Amino acid sequence: MHNILVTGANGQLGSELRALEFHYPSYNFIFTDSKQLDITTYRAVEKYIEQNAITAIINCAAYTAVDKAETDSTKANALNHLAVENLAKISKARGITLIHISTDYVFDGTSDRPYTEEDVPNPQSVYGKTKLAGEKAMQRVNPPNSIIIRTSWLYSNYGTNFVKTMLRLGKEKNEISVIADQKGTPTYAGDLAKTILEILPKIKNDKVEVYHYSNEGVCSWYDFAKAIFALKKMFIKVDPIKSTEFPTPAKRPHYSILNKRKIIEAFQLKIPTWEDSLARCLRKPEPKILKLPKILDIRGNLSWFENSNQIPFDIKRTYFINDVPGGEIRGGHAFRKSTEFIVALSGSLDVVLNDGNKEIKYSLNRSDYGLYIPNLIWRKMENFSANAFALIVSSISYNTADYIRDFENFQIIRNEAKG
Ligand SMILES: NC(=O)c1ccc[n+]([C@@H]2O[C@H](COP(=O)([O-])OP(=O)(O)OC[C@H]3O[C@@H](n4cnc5c(N)ncnc54)[C@H](OP(=O)(O)O)[C@@H]3O)[C@@H](O)[C@H]2O)c1
Repeated sequence: MHNILVTGANGQLGSELRALEFHYPSYNFIFTDSKQLDITTYRAVEKYIEQNAITAIINCAAYTAVDKAETDSTKANALNHLAVENLAKISKARGITLIHISTDYVFDGTSDRPYTEEDVPNPQSVYGKTKLAGEKAMQRVNPPNSIIIRTSWLYSNYGTNFVKTMLRLGKEKNEISVIADQKGTPTYAGDLAKTILEILPKIKNDKVEVYHYSNEGVCSWYDFAKAIFALKKMFIKVDPIKSTEFPTPAKRPHYSILNKRKIIEAFQLKIPTWEDSLARCLRKPEPKILKLPKILDIRGNLSWFENSNQIPFDIKRTYFINDVPGGEIRGGHAFRKSTEFIVALSGSLDVVLNDGNKEIKYSLNRSDYGLYIPNLIWRKMENFSANAFALIVSSISYNTADYIRDFENFQIIRNEAKG
């Protein structure tokens, strides 16, 4: 079995990989955010990889603030270049497959045809330069069976990106200006995540291969914005402007379409168009992830609330999955493979999941001691339809009587207004 380390797992791509975890039961995923594993620290990474017997790394960590990087080049270089070199060295020493992600911004954008992997990069920004330095370092070290995937214009339901910015602006304004003279291809991070997991077992090469991956098709940021509003039926006037009318600290390529023939042929891929993928992404209910405090115990990393003040939502009502305050609701138990969700409290507890067709009720009992709602339910929650709802309960220490007492009399009721 592959023990796959995903670094930077709270970013767009990392979160999409997390969302796919249960479709790949033969992989043992270990998701780490920057606090659990700072990839700029060589010793920490080496130790973590050794302790967890990692066989493959998907490096989703990066310094992606393109404009900020112009004045923060040391940090951008540490993450996009030096940390990649570290990962490559450790991977090489231990025979680990390293999948690293790079960017279309390694090109200068002066081409008039899609860039192939053989085209000579010429980055115009600090971000692009540090990403290219990371690529080169990885190729120099040459870990076995490892690849670099350059992608472009990444977006997702998770994290910050152009799609989410447009949706936010669309709520605030009736008219917006968007750059129309930069052409590229949006890439749904969910598609890239799936592709990575599909090709992982097929990667076999003596030297680090570079591949290009984006969705199919071409558009400008202006076209992209118009498509977002059209799909969301938001009537926003979008005005095309030139890059010169919206100066940014970092210079961006005017043309950064990637030629994907190499990856398509090597792994027999069928890549969706950017329009189809955008529609698919926008149909998904926005995921929410609860940031629960993490506490280490003998079972691994537990997330729990230590007292009722820490619970960021009202346990006496049912929330729609879209609707949980505090932003995020993935949480619970991150012990090895299991992302068990949420723990019942005292007394008995009914958890109701309803996907619009059928209702599934789970009754949990204090005496069960197995206070965890298992993976299965979490998987169902991933597949929620837009009008589905879930009863979300908080987790709490299962062995601390004091905490339990806080919740002795709580009741879970359905929110009729929404249910
Ligand atoms: N976004 C795009 O449009 C785009 C386009 C082309 C290529 N790419 C490439 O695609 C890859 C994935 O991008 P993304 O959009 O998913 O990135 P993202 O959403 O910005 O996520 C990057 C993640 O890296 C983490 N990180 C920061 N410093 C770290 C450290 N020292 N150790 C470990 N993790 C650290 C961040 O965690 P914290 O939040 O905790 O700091 C963040 O969750 C990157 O390699 C990026 O360069 C992105």
